[in-house]
Amino acid sequence: MATLSRPGETVSADTAYPSFPPGFLWGAATSAYQIEGATREDGRAAGIWDTFATVPGAVRNGESGDVACDFFHRYPEDVALMRELGLDAFRFSVSWPRILPDGRGRVEPRGLDFYDRLVDELLAAGIRPFLNLYHWDLPQQLEDEGGWPSRSTAEAFVELAEAVAGRLGDRVHDWSTHNEPFCAAWLGYALGVHAPGRRDDAAAVAAAHHILLSHGWAVEAIRREAPGARVGIIIDSWPCHPASDDPADVEAAAVGDAIRNRLWFEPVMLGRYPDLALEVLAPLAPPVRDGDMAAIAAPLDWLGVNNYSRSILRADPGGGPPLEVRAPAGPLTEMGWEVYPDGLYELLVRAHREWGATSIYVTENGAAFGDIRGHDGRVHDPERIEYLAGYLRAVARAMDDGVPVEGYFVWSLLDNFEWSLGYGRRFGLVYIDYPTLERVPKDSFEWYRGLISANPS
Ligand code: GCO
Repeated sequence: MATLSRPGETVSADTAYPSFPPGFLWGAATSAYQIEGATREDGRAAGIWDTFATVPGAVRNGESGDVACDFFHRYPEDVALMRELGLDAFRFSVSWPRILPDGRGRVEPRGLDFYDRLVDELLAAGIRPFLNLYHWDLPQQLEDEGGWPSRSTAEAFVELAEAVAGRLGDRVHDWSTHNEPFCAAWLGYALGVHAPGRRDDAAAVAAAHHILLSHGWAVEAIRREAPGARVGIIIDSWPCHPASDDPADVEAAAVGDAIRNRLWFEPVMLGRYPDLALEVLAPLAPPVRDGDMAAIAAPLDWLGVNNYSRSILRADPGGGPPLEVRAPAGPLTEMGWEVYPDGLYELLVRAHREWGATSIYVTENGAAFGDIRGHDGRVHDPERIEYLAGYLRAVARAMDDGVPVEGYFVWSLLDNFEWSLGYGRRFGLVYIDYPTLERVPKDSFEWYRGLISANPS
C-alpha cells in the first residue's frame, strides 16, 4: 500500500483529486435506523431492528439504534456540516415505523413532520434530498404478520410510498424505493445475521421476490403522488471472481455472481430472473404471479450501485455452495474487505452494457478503519482517503469509457450503527464521539471537501 501524506505534507499522487465533468453530483449517504435514534419518540413504533437488537448475541455488545447519532434532534447541526463539506446531495432513508406505526393503515403525522423539517433544512442549505423509502427498518407489526416472505408486505409498502411521496413530493424530486434488497432478503431471512434473524431459505427467496415486487409497485405510486419524480433503486454489487482458472472455480464464481448480482439487477432492469440463479435455488422458486415481472421492471430514471469490495470464490469439493477465499494480496479494510477499486469499475460497466442503465449513481462506497481521536483532538484517517481516491479514479475511468455515471455518494457522512457490528465499525467522514455525540470531522472530510471544490458541479 502506498504511503499516505499527513496533513501539512504534499498530497501524494495516490490521493490527488481525480477530475470529473461539471454537473457531477457529490453526495453522502446514510440510513434512518443507523443515525436517527429517538426510536420511541413522536409515535414511532418498534421496527425489526429494535427487536433484533434485544436478542442476546445478535448485535455486538447488545448495542442498538436507540440513540445512534441522535440525528433526529441534531439534524440542523449535521446539515450545517454537509454545507461546510460542500455537498450537492444528501441520501437518507425514512423509518417506516415512524410513519406507519402498524405498517399500514394509520399514518403518524409527527413521523412525516420530521422528514418535512429535514427536507426544508436541506433545501435551505442548497442540498438536494435523495430520499430512500426502505433501508431495512420494517415495522415489527408487519414482521409479526409474515414479513417480506408474505405478499401483503409488498402491498403495505405501497402505502408507505404514497404517504411519503404525497407529503414530500412537492419538494423531493429524487426517490429510491429500496436499498440493497440482497441484504434485506438474504442476511435477514436466510442467514439470520440481520433482522429479523430468520434462517429459512424458502422465506428468503419469497422475501426477495416481494421486495422486488414492492419496488415496482412503489415506482408507480411515487410517480402518481409526485409527478416529475426521478425514481430509482439501489442495489449492492459484489464482483465475484474465481480463485483459479480451474473450471470448477470459474463455475463457482458464476454461481456467486448469479445470486449476489444478477438476481437483483436483471429482474429490475431486464424483467427476468437469471436462469442460473433459478437453477441454483431450485427446488425453491420465487412466487411469481402473472404481471409481477412486468411490474418489477417498471422503467426507472436512474440506477443506484453500491460497492465496497469483491468476492473471490472457489468450488467446494464437497459439492456445497461456493467457498469464499481471502484476497491473496493488497490492503483490507477493518471489515476484512479487500480494497479493490477495479471491482467498482467492472460493475459500473456491467450496469450500463449488460443491464442497460443509462443514468447511474454510485449510491454507496466507503470504508471502515480503526479511527482514533488523537491527543490533538483530531482524527487522521489516511487509509480512508486513499481508499476513496482509488475508487473515485475507478469511477472516472468508467466515465471515460462511456458509462453514464452522474454522481457519487460516500458511505457515510457520520460514523453510525453498523448493524450487527454495532458501533464497532466507523465509516464516517465525521467521527462521532458516542459518549457526548460530539461531531469531529476527520481528515477525510477535509479531503472530500477539497475534492468537491476542485470539481464543482
Ligand atoms: C447498505 C449498507 C450500509 C452499511 C454499509 C457498510 O446496505 O446500504 O449496508 O447500511 O452501513 O454498507 O457496511
